[in-house]
Amino acid sequence: MHLHHLSLLAAIAGTTLPVIGAPHQARTEGTCKKTKVAILGGGVAGITAAQALTNASVHDFVILEYRDTIGGRAWHKPFGKDKDGKPYNIEMGANWVQGIGSEGGPQNPIWLLAQKYGLKTEFSNYDNVSTYNKDGYFDYSHLIDAYDEAYEIANAKAGEILTQNLQDQNAKSGLALAGWTPKVHDMEAQAVDWWSWDFEAAYSPIESSFVFGCAGDNLTFNYFSDHDNLVIDQRGLNFIIKRIASTFLRDNDPRLHLNTEVTNITYSDHGVRVHNKDGSCVEADYAITTFSLGVLQRGAVNFSPELPDWKLEAIQKFNMGTYTKIFFQFNETFWPSETQYHLYADPVTRGWYPIWQSLSTPGFLPDSNIIFVTVTNEFAYRVERQSDEQTKKEAMDVLRKMFPDKDIPEPTAFMYPRWTSEPWAYGSYSNWPPATSLEMHQNLRANAGRLWFAGEATSPTFFGFLHGAYFEGLDAGRQIAAIMQHRCINADSAKLRECGPRKHYETLHGTSPYSDYTMLNGWAVDSSIDNNPE
Ligand SMILES: Cc1cc2nc3c(=O)[nH]c(=O)nc-3n(C[C@H](O)[C@H](O)[C@H](O)COP(=O)(O)OP(=O)(O)OC[C@H]3O[C@@H](n4cnc5c(N)ncnc54)[C@H](O)[C@@H]3O)c2cc1C
Ligand SMILES: *[C@@H]1O[C@H](CO)[C@@H](O)[C@H](O)[C@H]1NC(C)=O
Ligand SMILES: *[C@@H]1O[C@H](CO)[C@@H](O)[C@H](O)[C@H]1NC(C)=O
Ligand SMILES: *[C@@H]1O[C@H](CO)[C@@H](O)[C@H](O)[C@H]1NC(C)=O
Ligand SMILES: *[C@@H]1O[C@H](CO)[C@@H](O)[C@H](O)[C@H]1NC(C)=O
Ligand SMILES: *[C@@H]1O[C@H](CO)[C@@H](O)[C@H](O)[C@H]1NC(C)=O
Repeated sequence: MHLHHLSLLAAIAGTTLPVIGAPHQARTEGTCKKTKVAILGGGVAGITAAQALTNASVHDFVILEYRDTIGGRAWHKPFGKDKDGKPYNIEMGANWVQGIGSEGGPQNPIWLLAQKYGLKTEFSNYDNVSTYNKDGYFDYSHLIDAYDEAYEIANAKAGEILTQNLQDQNAKSGLALAGWTPKVHDMEAQAVDWWSWDFEAAYSPIESSFVFGCAGDNLTFNYFSDHDNLVIDQRGLNFIIKRIASTFLRDNDPRLHLNTEVTNITYSDHGVRVHNKDGSCVEADYAITTFSLGVLQRGAVNFSPELPDWKLEAIQKFNMGTYTKIFFQFNETFWPSETQYHLYADPVTRGWYPIWQSLSTPGFLPDSNIIFVTVTNEFAYRVERQSDEQTKKEAMDVLRKMFPDKDIPEPTAFMYPRWTSEPWAYGSYSNWPPATSLEMHQNLRANAGRLWFAGEATSPTFFGFLHGAYFEGLDAGRQIAAIMQHRCINADSAKLRECGPRKHYETLHGTSPYSDYTMLNGWAVDSSIDNNPE
């Protein structure tokens, strides 16, 4: 009688009724926290996605973040000591607000936030550079002028290729055709080549897309402005990200889950389930992953079903660069402190401890006696693999060559991050390889079912920048809110072009017609707009 009653109930409720003695798994699934939107990662993009949802009255979301703080790649650490014995805070990751904007022109949103929240920054003057070789100071700045002249010609050509939907090439060939042909053994020209290209892209010109390298440069430095400000605020750059978050997250807001490593994502056209390392899980109508391209490339998170081929291809097609700043504090500032940048041409190896940036300079952290050298990719991997001691020794040898007349003491503090090994980043920021197309990038940016993608790398216009992550988080949040609120329904209306799921291509064509450079595809402005002509 009792048994009969149970099976009757089961029959009424259909197969989904959890009967006594159901497998353990069914019960664990039942305990998943339910929410409308799961935001995966609490960097700039994750926080602006949450801001956009809040703005659209979607308050039912959670943010799952690996680390014990938000901010992601805007990350600072204590270093050295000031006169009172207190450590300085220095930026391991993002350091500049790039292309701040000009009076009357469009403003970089990161710059607006920096101003709003009183972030301390200082104008970074790239003309304020001295050049060195193995024998000390040696003026080869005419090579910088030669590069700049060729770049202008190359950039105009890149614009034609983009608008006429012609074949992309690598930036080295684009620059060569415009007259910049650094010889492989001309190490001063190689140093200038590195300073002019790798220092921004983390990749060399031969490894970079000509068209999208130039377009990206235009979209930040012509559209906003060619002014970069270095953040020296002792609260850290991520202070502004925390301030955005504080406009919608209260202290100990239960929607923010720190120290939560996502390990598995199950997605479909109906929803997303996220499992974390600590055994907790979240079931959402939609999810937005903002994990870095490096995290996706490494397969650090398991997707079920496996991501489709078009997505996997796009993830592996784009490149994750590594940009490593190696910090030194000395007991004195023995280098000319009125100069911001010191460029070194090693006689043997391109990219060998090439750019030294003084913080112990008026306007920055005067009298801090801090200087740092930046290395990228192969040289960044190299210093990551070797001991701090070995790196310090090599870099000190370079300093002694640059300043042969100085008696250079050993540093009192020394530190550098190992970005390629950070399990929450696996690299620094993305770059477009040669011969790519907007279509390929659309596949990186497109949603797979209810799983959306946002972050620095999904921005076709501002990849590699804080503002790229900012816009992409906002956009994903807005799109999802619009879909949930049925605001993207009329397929024929102009409105749809700014709203709705993103397009992907099962088969790529190799190029993209100019008409594809739209808002919906993340291409907000025309890359030939110059708001700051000479
Ligand atoms: C060395 C360096 C220098 C840079 N310099 C500049 C600069 O000067 N100017 C500029 O504009 N930009 C710069 N950038 C780029 C800028 O930092 C990024 O574009 C931006 O911070 C990316 O934000 P995001 O939200 O897309 O990604 P992230 O900041 O990486 O956010 C993603 C978040 O996801 C979390 N996460 C990762 N894996 C998991 C997981 N499994 N589970 C849960 N959470 C996870 C991470 O902890 C992180 O908080 C630099 C970056 C680096 C590394
Ligand atoms: C907030 O919503 C308003 C009105 O829909 C919109 O104009 C604005 O751009 C939104 N802001 C953000 C940050 O999403
Ligand atoms: C960059 O801007 C310049 C100046 O407006 C323009 O001539 C050039 O075509 C643009 N390049 C690209 C790749 O958009
Ligand atoms: C997560 O994915 C891994 C690899 O596919 C699998 O072994 C594991 O069982 C999954 N865990 C959960 C909770 O789904
Ligand atoms: C270089 O920059 C420093 C610090 O801003 C400044 O004091 C100095 O005058 C600049 N030098 C030149 C030549 O512009
Ligand atoms: C810094 O240290 C070196 C070596 O120990 C010493 O010769 C020099 O006088 C010190 N400089 C200052 C300003 O104390």
